[in-house]
Amino acid sequence: MNSSHEQNVFRVKNSWNGNFPSFRRPEVIGYWSVNGSRDVSYDSSQLQYYSPPKTTEVRFDLNRGINSVLRKPEDLDERIDHLLQWIGKNSEKIRANPTTKRWLQPNFISYRGLLTKIMKTPYDMREGWIICASKWRGSIYLCHFDTEADKEDKANITPRQMAMCSWGFKFEQYILTEVPGGSPDPLKPVNECEEFDCVFQTRLREHELLYGGEMDGVCSDERLRDPLPLEKLKFVELKTSRILENDRQWMNMQRHKFLKWWCQSFLVGIEDILCGFRDDSGIIRQLENYKVSDIARNSQKYWKAAAAMNFCDNFLRHVASTVRNDCDRTVYKFERIPNGDIYLTEVPPTSDYAFLPPWFRAIR
Ligand code: A3P
Ligand code: MG
Ligand code: MG
Repeated sequence: MNSSHEQNVFRVKNSWNGNFPSFRRPEVIGYWSVNGSRDVSYDSSQLQYYSPPKTTEVRFDLNRGINSVLRKPEDLDERIDHLLQWIGKNSEKIRANPTTKRWLQPNFISYRGLLTKIMKTPYDMREGWIICASKWRGSIYLCHFDTEADKEDKANITPRQMAMCSWGFKFEQYILTEVPGGSPDPLKPVNECEEFDCVFQTRLREHELLYGGEMDGVCSDERLRDPLPLEKLKFVELKTSRILENDRQWMNMQRHKFLKWWCQSFLVGIEDILCGFRDDSGIIRQLENYKVSDIARNSQKYWKAAAAMNFCDNFLRHVASTVRNDCDRTVYKFERIPNGDIYLTEVPPTSDYAFLPPWFRAIR
């Protein structure tokens, strides 16, 4: 790193060797629900129970009721607002030790999906991304923004692609119930706005992390009531995938899907994934259980869990050392160029990339 131009580049290739970094088991410290109108409530009203069928040979039609699906509005621009609102209500719980100069204990605050994106970066050459960083009272908040290519993809989505995006939600409906031991009700129209989110706290090497993540289903034989027993919650991740017909498809699944599934699940301490394999017309025919630890072990030919974690650790260190000003002076925009490195641009607090709202910054 010699010239001033070079200082603004984070090289992807140099940043992932080494042993598995220390990572504390993530702890659930809170939760919220989002209803069908995207209103937030600080309860478990949207928590769903894992109620898989007894057999693995199934016939779940994911197109059932596809014309009455309620999708998220396209212009929804929530950024990290739900997480900030949770923090606003729970700041006492996560206050920093007075010996630090921070307001809150975590160094980094974000959604789990953003950390997944960072972790996949060394293996996902084609994907570009934009992550903005805002420093406030000693912590760095991270928020994902669409690239020009993301915007173009969204603008050009075909009806078939739209339907396929809804298949995953429909699958959840065949597996989850509102009460433990209940029967799934796949006749109900899916409302894709509804979700249940947890807040996790952990440490990756020296970085104290706090992140929110949407959870698919909880394993419990008993009805769980608010306040939920946070230390006992065990979640499962649900996924769909196309039926595999040859070695090339199996290799692609290990190389790409398994990496994403592992990152997403490992970050929230999930041990089990249930995958529904579907055909091209959206019928799930087979269910398969995967252990998250097996996924990492069996995919080593294609990617290493340690590399994903080391990359994340190194990138966060880079962010911590570059993000110096508070967000009322500077917002830091990191952009990963497809097949390239990560470039930093500093943008003013009046930019569209500024994402910490005035009400949040007014909290004392
Ligand atoms: P699949 O995972 O079966 O593809 P998640 O698995 O992360 O809980 O997401 C649930 C479902 O939301 C996905 O099911 C998919 O249908 C939809 N989904 C998630 N991320 C998406 C994205 N980036 N674009 C389109 N659909 C998405
Ligand atoms: Mg989910
Ligand atoms: Mg899922």
